[in-house]
Amino acid sequence: MTQPVSQYLSIAVIGGTGPQGKGLALRFARAGHGVTLGSRDAGRAKEAADEVNAHRGDSGTALTGASNEDAAAGADVVLLAVPWNGHAELVASLADRLAGKIVISCVNPLGFDKSGPYGLNVEAGSAAEELQALVPTARVVGGFHHLSAVSLWEEEGLLDHEDVLVVSDDAEAKALVLELAASVVGRPGIDAGALRLARQLEPLTAVLIAINKKYKVRSGVRISGV
Ligand SMILES: NC(=O)c1ccc[n+]([C@@H]2O[C@H](COP(=O)([O-])OP(=O)(O)OC[C@H]3O[C@@H](n4cnc5c(N)ncnc54)[C@H](OP(=O)(O)O)[C@@H]3O)[C@@H](O)[C@H]2O)c1
Repeated sequence: MTQPVSQYLSIAVIGGTGPQGKGLALRFARAGHGVTLGSRDAGRAKEAADEVNAHRGDSGTALTGASNEDAAAGADVVLLAVPWNGHAELVASLADRLAGKIVISCVNPLGFDKSGPYGLNVEAGSAAEELQALVPTARVVGGFHHLSAVSLWEEEGLLDHEDVLVVSDDAEAKALVLELAASVVGRPGIDAGALRLARQLEPLTAVLIAINKKYKVRSGVRISGV
């Protein structure tokens, strides 16, 4: 139930002990990519890697765990799967490890109040743009914002009822992430334009969460007409 890939990547998942990081890591590893889960605590990362390996079964490649710093240093591609709260500090602390690398952000700056979820106002425009501003040489790509961690973990097959919307100003990095999306949804991601459109993608997740609450579902995004 995996897609053939033209190249196997070495991927570090920063914040890889959380549900989104573990869920995406599971999918990437099942497709044969080498994945290292990162954490502020290397021991916690190793425990999370054991958990994902146990869930992965026989398919794909075994994951490992390491500190965020070591995971990022050893990877071709880094996925940031950390909360918005503390994002700037975390990115700044890893800046030298992220410099020059393809860095994917699925970070959604969201707030919740008595009216439900909403997109926060972000000074840099979006989390992805904040990352770019903090690490100017990073090859930043926004993607995987709208996939539910529960679906990533629990659904057996590819999430082929969903699309992965990908934004970046780096054509080569974007092409690689568009292909990587196939390991999750079974076909390439959708090229959704320039990095600044992360300002639209990130808060769209608040809409999905509101729909989930109303209809008691796990909604996703599927683009028609492409
Ligand atoms: N959950 C979802 O369904 C979902 C879906 C789409 C997108 N996302 C986005 O994906 C990102 C991760 O989501 P999540 O639910 O997995 O988040 P999470 O569980 O809250 O956090 C993920 C990991 O980040 C690390 N972390 C927490 N606070 C930190 C801080 N201040 N500085 C550095 N690291 C910190 C923790 O790992 P250590 O303590 O081990 O370092 C934690 O396990 C978020 O930005 C979210 O908006 C989530």
